[in-house]
Amino acid sequence: DRTLRDLAGRHLLVGTAVDHAAYTSDATYRARVSSEFSSITAENVMKWEVVEPVRGQLDFTAADQLIAAARKNGQQVRGHTLLWHNQLPAWLTSGVESGDIDATELRGILRKHITDEARHFRGRIYQWDVVNEVIDDDGRPRDTLWLRELGPGYIADAFRWAHQADPKAKLFLNDYNVEGVSAKSDAYLALVKDLLAQRVPVHGFGAQGHYGVQYGLHAASDVATNLGRFEALGLETAITEADVRMLMPTDTVKLQAQAQGYSVLLQGCLLAKRCNSFTVWGFTDKYSWVPGFFDGEGAANLLDENFAAKPGYRELQAVL
Ligand code: XIL
Repeated sequence: DRTLRDLAGRHLLVGTAVDHAAYTSDATYRARVSSEFSSITAENVMKWEVVEPVRGQLDFTAADQLIAAARKNGQQVRGHTLLWHNQLPAWLTSGVESGDIDATELRGILRKHITDEARHFRGRIYQWDVVNEVIDDDGRPRDTLWLRELGPGYIADAFRWAHQADPKAKLFLNDYNVEGVSAKSDAYLALVKDLLAQRVPVHGFGAQGHYGVQYGLHAASDVATNLGRFEALGLETAITEADVRMLMPTDTVKLQAQAQGYSVLLQGCLLAKRCNSFTVWGFTDKYSWVPGFFDGEGAANLLDENFAAKPGYRELQAVL
């Protein structure tokens, strides 16, 4: 039985999000991370709330541990994420809310955060999700603290700062519900054109790939067509957070539909010309963000709670 990373060979990196706590405590989990994957993403430990829990006190310990292990295992690392509206440190959100931090100060804080973090990991990250989830499902700029306080220019600023701090990393936009052609992916395409026209260093577009079997799936060709639009502008593309959830309990029909969902995302990536990494957001149902975030849903991963292969895993083996 060949692992995903063996089957993918040298042309595609196959990645997973890694749960730092599980990685530390569960030897079976740890062994599968290294045998199955050629790329890792820190599920949480590179996010701002983790790396700067107290203002001015940077803590990259957990992420450094994951990166050191990845290096030993011959794995590449995706950086996730420098700028998002979730998982911000409490000192920052409360400071903005109370008015203690004004827009000018906030811009300086953001610049320092991006510079500190990208510089700390410089040379160790092949793709950075510089900005995460900045457009809403209707294709409008997402209403966040960043947009409200700093105005729309914060996106260009973030890319410029990240590039200065780590000139070799490929800098990505990343979001969900952008796998196929839609109002949302159209808006990203327009954003990329606008950024490139301003000579902003943006190098990649990531489609997260959070699917659910109760929602429609794209055709693989739709995913490839959509990614191809970004590639035509000179960008790399990636599937960055694939998982396919379902309403619990599972049954054979849902598990089959799930396999189909994974298949569409991988085939879409393979059919595109410059989709060079395919990452799942966790690989075992033993550790998954889904039950905690989507009421009544679960079983979104390739392996079950006992690390046994589900149809989705077999399907990815077949496609690779
Ligand atoms: C999720 C993690 O999986 C959870 O552990 C955490 O509590 C919340 O964030 N889109 C993203 C990821 O870009 O960072 C999110 O990860 C899932 C949705």
